[in-house]
Amino acid sequence: MNKHTGFSSRMGYILSAAGSAVGLGNIWRFPYCVANQGGGIFLTIYVIALFTFGYSLLIAENGLGRMTGMGPIGTYRQICKGKTGPVGFLKVGGWLNAIAPLIILPYYCVIGGWVTKYVVALLTNPISKFSAEDANASAEYFSTFISSTWEPLLYFLLFIAIVVGVIALGVKEGIERFNKILMPLLVLLIIALCIYCLRLPNASEGIKYYLKPDWSKFSIMTLVTAVGQLFYSLSIAMGIMITYGSYMRKEDNLIANVNHVALFDTLVAFLAGLMIIPALVSFGGEDAAQNAGPGLVFIVLPQVFASFFGGKIVGIAFFLLVLFAAATSAISLLETNVQTIGQELKLSRKTSIIYGVAEILVIGIITVLGYSCLSFVHPLAFIQDYAKMDILDTLDFISNNVIMPFGAIFTTLLVVCVYGLERFCKEVSGDRPWPNRWLFKLCMRAILIPCLIIILMDSLGIFRR
Ligand code: PHE
Repeated sequence: MNKHTGFSSRMGYILSAAGSAVGLGNIWRFPYCVANQGGGIFLTIYVIALFTFGYSLLIAENGLGRMTGMGPIGTYRQICKGKTGPVGFLKVGGWLNAIAPLIILPYYCVIGGWVTKYVVALLTNPISKFSAEDANASAEYFSTFISSTWEPLLYFLLFIAIVVGVIALGVKEGIERFNKILMPLLVLLIIALCIYCLRLPNASEGIKYYLKPDWSKFSIMTLVTAVGQLFYSLSIAMGIMITYGSYMRKEDNLIANVNHVALFDTLVAFLAGLMIIPALVSFGGEDAAQNAGPGLVFIVLPQVFASFFGGKIVGIAFFLLVLFAAATSAISLLETNVQTIGQELKLSRKTSIIYGVAEILVIGIITVLGYSCLSFVHPLAFIQDYAKMDILDTLDFISNNVIMPFGAIFTTLLVVCVYGLERFCKEVSGDRPWPNRWLFKLCMRAILIPCLIIILMDSLGIFRR
């Protein structure tokens, strides 16, 4: 049944799964979450969540994928085979896990296009375009770009071309090889940028701001944000890790592999914060860090770099780093879609890629136009709280805040109630020792589902009524 070729080596799996995990979430979202959610307190919660929820779900998804050799839909179908009633209904979870990457990928490619534009803009223009003195110049540059029609479309297509080029070469020759080159390069870049930023004037204030716990910012929201960020960052509950698990060699030590991926992802996020927060504090004091938000990468940072010596080179290096991170994540999303399309519609890899790309083009073009000629479209206009959301934010909201918690709940139930926890542990660890087995079992049995329900309720705004 398992006809696809998988990764050829352990390193190939680790770097590719880490490539999926390390993305815009690490470099863009993580630093500003830490900056405005209490510094060290957010970091501590994040790390605790990593070793409990994150770790458990990563093992669950990779284990399921490796057992069945199938994508999310096939995996759920195989494990629920012959089951009827509520247990049979769990098959829906496979669809949820498969739909998430179909929703995420088009808008991820739109943002990937923006990053590509900034690499090209910095390479070809003087950095003074992003004036350090005029805070509005950066914001205006960005909004003029995204609200024009052709330019964002062009860069969106350019980014897709990179991603499709890699996928077309296959799992081993494309994904594995690309990640083996890009991931070490990404680490080198981020270390170099960290060294640069840590030597800026006042950087030590920034480090303090980053690491010092600020209890006054702590609330239930800190918890929910940390866990949500963790899931997004680890590419959990989106079918991805089921797919990548299905490409993992049977003889590999799954638990060790997963540990490496989780640590790699967290290390990159931590380094991204260590580079961005001191730079922000050095540029505009604690206020700049405190007010960081989604505009960080495209509006604030270009301005920050413009104000420093060597800023152009640093800016190019930074956007290249973001581009590598975004491309390796987009590759994992497209691979999951291609595997699902191929297995469910029984199509060849080539035809599945064509279908997958057609899907990105249709939804992605609508998303790009959502900032220009379709800017009047607010898909959730009928819900008061979300009435103003644009198309991109809506896709992000539906996939991350609604489908993701459901997907994770279904995966937990599939392992615990259908496959059986003991049997699953034996399957993933083989005869190898697994000292943290108790923690995995505890999370799967008792902790994950209540926490996921809280996250879901928060996403749906139930606490805010
Ligand atoms: N983990 C990626 C990031 O941190 C995002 C992503 C989510 C990628 C889901 C694939 C699937 O940016």
